Amino acid sequence: MRKNIVAGNWKMNNDLAATKTLISELIELNKTSDAEVMIAPTFVNLMEASKLLRETSIRVASQNMHYAESGAFTGEVSAKMLKVIGVNTVILGHSERREYFYEDDLILKQKVDKALQESMEIIFCFGEQLDDRNSDHHFKVVERQIKNALFHLPSSSWKSVVLAYEPVWAIGTGQTASPEQAQEMHAYIRKLVGERYDITTSEKVSILYGGSVKPENAEEIFGKLDVDGGLIGGAALDAKSFMAIINSF
Ligand code: 13P
Repeated sequence: MRKNIVAGNWKMNNDLAATKTLISELIELNKTSDAEVMIAPTFVNLMEASKLLRETSIRVASQNMHYAESGAFTGEVSAKMLKVIGVNTVILGHSERREYFYEDDLILKQKVDKALQESMEIIFCFGEQLDDRNSDHHFKVVERQIKNALFHLPSSSWKSVVLAYEPVWAIGTGQTASPEQAQEMHAYIRKLVGERYDITTSEKVSILYGGSVKPENAEEIFGKLDVDGGLIGGAALDAKSFMAIINSF
């Protein structure tokens, strides 16, 4: 059985006060759910989030990390620094990291390796641009992103990998992929993993969809066979919306 996961990527939103408020609202509203729930606040608020959520089922993830152990990397944060404050999950490869901070497949591969070496769980993001889809290259683009950063891993590492398909044209645009488009891509990804590894590995990996998921469309998207949850941006900044999405399972 695969895990259903709903993760809120807060991006560069919420200062310390807003982080505390949103977390207390989430704690208040959170009931047992069929999905594992995570939030990813910005670096400076991870420690507070981790403390506030320690006794709850909501987990805290980082939005990024560096691949080096330590050293002269001004402005960066290491895996060990995250683990010390109770953050054992990291989002890697988000399209905003790829686009604005030039993270390419090779950098991401190094980050993946470091996170796994530190026994962290990875939520690995990938997805095509609108041009790729319009020119019918979306499968190829996604395949390249996954292969280059993940397919060197031994199958034993895949228990710590969660995949997140986020078509760039659907992020923050209000234009979500249709449930059929999401299912088609997720099934394709699962097939790729099955061909590279085996059916056990491909059936076990959770594949999340991200891109304009809202309470209004979550149930239909999550209802698809190969969609195992969501990576939520804007709608995760409001406790009621985020909870409604979690309860869509
Ligand atoms: P939106 O839900 O705001 O489209 O963002 C999706 C996303 O980028 C999550 O990582």
